Amino acid sequence: MFDSGYGGLTILKELVNELPQYDYLYLGDNARAPYGSRSYDTVYEYTLECVQHLFDKGCELVILACNTASAKALRTIQQKDLPLIDPKKRVLGVIRPTTEIVGNYSKTKHVGVLATAGTVNSNSYVIEIEKFFPELKVFQNACPLWVSLIENNELEGEGTQYFVKKYIDELFSQSKEIDTIILGCTHYPILKPLIEKYLPPNVTLLTQGSIVANGLKDYLHRHPEMEALITKHQLLEFYTTDSVEQFNAHASLFFGQEVNSKHLSL
Ligand code: DGL
Repeated sequence: MFDSGYGGLTILKELVNELPQYDYLYLGDNARAPYGSRSYDTVYEYTLECVQHLFDKGCELVILACNTASAKALRTIQQKDLPLIDPKKRVLGVIRPTTEIVGNYSKTKHVGVLATAGTVNSNSYVIEIEKFFPELKVFQNACPLWVSLIENNELEGEGTQYFVKKYIDELFSQSKEIDTIILGCTHYPILKPLIEKYLPPNVTLLTQGSIVANGLKDYLHRHPEMEALITKHQLLEFYTTDSVEQFNAHASLFFGQEVNSKHLSL
């Protein structure tokens, strides 16, 4: 599993809960995070490099547990790079499983997406939701400061409250009828209690952990050839491209338990 930093750990936590039999290797590119404001070319180049490292370590299937990377790099890696690297290996993202189910939650048919500027500007959520639920109206708002606030452990101070309220208000200024919101960045579940405080009542807030876990379960059911290739010793390994001490100190907030990481040099 790959993420720009810590956010993907909120997804990994659910995968390990739901599918504990498999071996998981997590790579956080903390040295180059955040990805959210970077260009297409840069996100693609960084993501491909990290995916290649995970392949080199023996992974058959890599999940981009980062919406920004899923939005900006996934398609090119799937279509252009995988056939050259190894046509049997697979790379999946987190946007598709989320857009496949979002329509099941909305009654008003007005859905909101809160994500990084990169994900919002890519329009990936709008395009993908249109394929599965053309009747939905999708409203997006970028939350450029949330990742930095989370990475700096600023989870409830006055400044954080201000920016949580501000981005939510900007979303609802586009439509008062939004009744379902996708937290389209894997960091954001850490702010869930605060986000809920500023949401109007009766709005469903979707986080991606269990959605991706169910999506993976379904994928492996439909692809027994891939399921057979995945090793099953319940191993859990963590790699970071930055300081191991710093990663270990922050990661438990996202993963819910102590993490012992190794350094990976790019
Ligand atoms: N957690 C990543 C995502 O899901 C973004 C964090 C970043 O900006 O690097 O989009």
